Amino acid sequence: MKLKFLLATMLLALGLSAGAQTIIKFSHVVAADTPKGKASEFFAKKAAELTKGKVKVEVYANSALYKDKEEMEALQIGSVQMLAPSLAKFGPLGVKEFEAFDFPFMFDDTAELHKITQGPVGAAMLAKLEPKGIKGLAYWDNGFKSFSANTPLKMPADYKGKKFRIQSSKVLEEQIRSVGGIPQVMAFSEVYQALQTGVVDGTENPISNFYTQKMHEVQKHLSLTNHGYLGYAVIVNKKFWDGLPADVRGQLEQAMKEATVYANQIAQEENDKSLAGVRASGKTVIYEPTKDERMALKKAMAPVHIKMADRVGKDTLKEFYKATGFDPTKL
Ligand code: LMR
Repeated sequence: MKLKFLLATMLLALGLSAGAQTIIKFSHVVAADTPKGKASEFFAKKAAELTKGKVKVEVYANSALYKDKEEMEALQIGSVQMLAPSLAKFGPLGVKEFEAFDFPFMFDDTAELHKITQGPVGAAMLAKLEPKGIKGLAYWDNGFKSFSANTPLKMPADYKGKKFRIQSSKVLEEQIRSVGGIPQVMAFSEVYQALQTGVVDGTENPISNFYTQKMHEVQKHLSLTNHGYLGYAVIVNKKFWDGLPADVRGQLEQAMKEATVYANQIAQEENDKSLAGVRASGKTVIYEPTKDERMALKKAMAPVHIKMADRVGKDTLKEFYKATGFDPTKL
């Protein structure tokens, strides 16, 4: 009898402590060995530490749970609690202001970018996600994109007639069209195979994504164009987040703050390491465009800014141009 009672008490205690632990599923589409992959693991560790085990963050890398489009839906219905989609993913959700990040040659460097992502404009943009049931917690950097293909990409004419995989973004579609290419929207997890089988001829991404998805195995030429930015917003299901006990939420906010510093510290480093990896593989010719070639690409893509201005909103663009000093009419 006594033993039975003891057993029951133990089971109850076990059940209670299991019930007390909150699980956060954090899904993303890139490899673990990338800026986003590493930062999400860092966050998971910090969250466990600061909440003293009350919260367990389970990170699912490489589209293990969901592909690009599905993951946003999964977050909105609460099947996952946390994501860090690229900023391009918010346009299709109906928050078109985010497409300003996709404009070619918008930022010269991360200092210009951080004026937006770490300032009031970035915060106001995150707030626009709330009516969609999404709370934005932070911006994490990846880096600047480069183009790859099986033929050299030096001048705008080299892009003509080629199919390029892009993320689902009207601005990116226009960017490819501006140089005579054919944009092909597809999920990130499908890019390697599409390149391998020739469904598309080329693609664009920061080198960390290019290398960790082994795209260098199936692309002969990589041109370091640095023509556009790719970064992330870390987001949570708003209802879930608001429902957390205030102390736990505060601890997670602290963990996110530290993970964001870490993410933005390692981003460039990870991209540099990946570039060294591509170089060491000997499989892809890495080309550094001359100043004139880069300017030719910039000029060819400048009309995208004019054409897509209304779509993104003139006020948002004005803020971006103020931060970056970029003027597409003066090229
Ligand atoms: C892509 O689809 O190219 C990127 O969004 C992948 C990522 O999340 O970095």
